[in-house]
Amino acid sequence: MTNLKPRDRILVALDTPDGARAGDLSRALGGYVGGIKLGLEFFNANGPQGVRDVAQAASEGAPPPLFLDLKFHDIPNTVAGAVRSVMPLAPAILNVHAAGGLVMMTTALEAATEEAAHLGIARPMLIAVTVLTSLDDDDLAAVGQATPARDQVLRLAALTQKAGLDGVVCSAKEIAAIRAECGPDFKLIVPGIRPAGAALGDQKRVMTPKQAIAEGADYLVIGRPITGADDPAAAAAAIAAEVEA
Ligand code: C5P
Repeated sequence: MTNLKPRDRILVALDTPDGARAGDLSRALGGYVGGIKLGLEFFNANGPQGVRDVAQAASEGAPPPLFLDLKFHDIPNTVAGAVRSVMPLAPAILNVHAAGGLVMMTTALEAATEEAAHLGIARPMLIAVTVLTSLDDDDLAAVGQATPARDQVLRLAALTQKAGLDGVVCSAKEIAAIRAECGPDFKLIVPGIRPAGAALGDQKRVMTPKQAIAEGADYLVIGRPITGADDPAAAAAAIAAEVEA
């Protein structure tokens, strides 16, 4: 693992369709988190220009690293085109669904690498989603996957690694098994994080930031415990301090 400061491991999820609110949060959190995550809700409401506005709001100087959580899943040619289309936004992290298959992932990686070189920017970390944590074994069986969710997560993590991608998004409970399967350099981005005593919201299987880092998470995706706080910057600072303690 790299020697990132605890603060740099926090990616704050700005889950809102409201561009002004995302801009305010981004401005308040500049310097307190390692990056901002914008996903489908924000992107479909505000588009690429909305992403630029939020990134710019975060700081007068360099914008914070951007995790563009768009979870691409389509035929390889279309996913490669989607990757190229978002590369001018210079995302630090970009993701696809591992279930799209090996060729879809390798094609996405090639597109990201080529387009980054063309634009003269760093290639984003390319991450895959394995099995959505909203799906249990019964849900998988209903779509024709008889494999238990846990086995499917490991299978797709291994496929992601074979495709040359940088890592996966996973639940805190999956960290140890994926680390064992994929080794120390495979990046693990972990949502479902709750500081001790924080409201769970709709998250069921949570871990504290400190536990998740101790298990081997590289980055923590944290939304409401930061964005729902009266003082988001103070909440982010408290989480970083909790990890460091
Ligand atoms: O507010 P909260 O901390 O629960 O936000 C977690 C973020 O991580 C949300 O953006 C959510 O969509 C995302 N996420 C998740 N579980 C996954 C994958 C992503 O909670 N398995």
